[in-house]
Amino acid sequence: MALFLDSANIDDVQQAVRLGLVAGVTTNPTLMAKTGRRARDVIQDILALTTGPVFYQITAGETAARLAQAHSMARLAPDRVVIKIPATTENLALAAHLKGEGISCAMTAVASPAQVYLASLAGATYAAVYVNRLTRQLGDGIQVVRECVAIARTNPIRILAASLKSVEEVVATLLTGVSDITIPLELILRLGEHELSRKAIEEFAAYTEQPSAG
Ligand code: E4P
Repeated sequence: MALFLDSANIDDVQQAVRLGLVAGVTTNPTLMAKTGRRARDVIQDILALTTGPVFYQITAGETAARLAQAHSMARLAPDRVVIKIPATTENLALAAHLKGEGISCAMTAVASPAQVYLASLAGATYAAVYVNRLTRQLGDGIQVVRECVAIARTNPIRILAASLKSVEEVVATLLTGVSDITIPLELILRLGEHELSRKAIEEFAAYTEQPSAG
């Protein structure tokens, strides 16, 4: 299961890369807007700092413009840029088209197992399921992601769990058997901590040997 950083912030990317735990970086239009920079420049910087997949979400209204955005970003690093496309029937057809051109796609804002099924048929590499948003809007995002994972067993696609807000939600999601998760830096840092681990470290510290003088 790969761990992705969900951020367009270059400081976050640098810190995550230093941790040596993340496989790549996902971005979305909201995260991109927070940088106040051109999306293309941000993606170029993230590509330079990392070695794995970098996700860019197309935003244009017209299909031809969305296609142009996808081509332009994919050209930056054809083997590493993943084009994120919000899940609609029209966009599933766009993903199938891009797949035919050898461009890797992630259907995003996925909210149902039915969309996962079509995303697999379209040849998308990933289906990004928005777990916390689904819990807030439908009641049980974990159950939806569980059903998406079940569909992906016979319809190959990587289920990328996104919109995760707490350590508990991450663990519940991992237990469904998702392929990958994407989370912000502050949540990655929280995953590695537990108050009982800190307590044990404090107890052991009392027995730490002092370095000998000679
Ligand atoms: C994933 O790729 C998305 O960027 C992200 O997780 C969206 O979720 P949120 O806006 O609910 O945090």
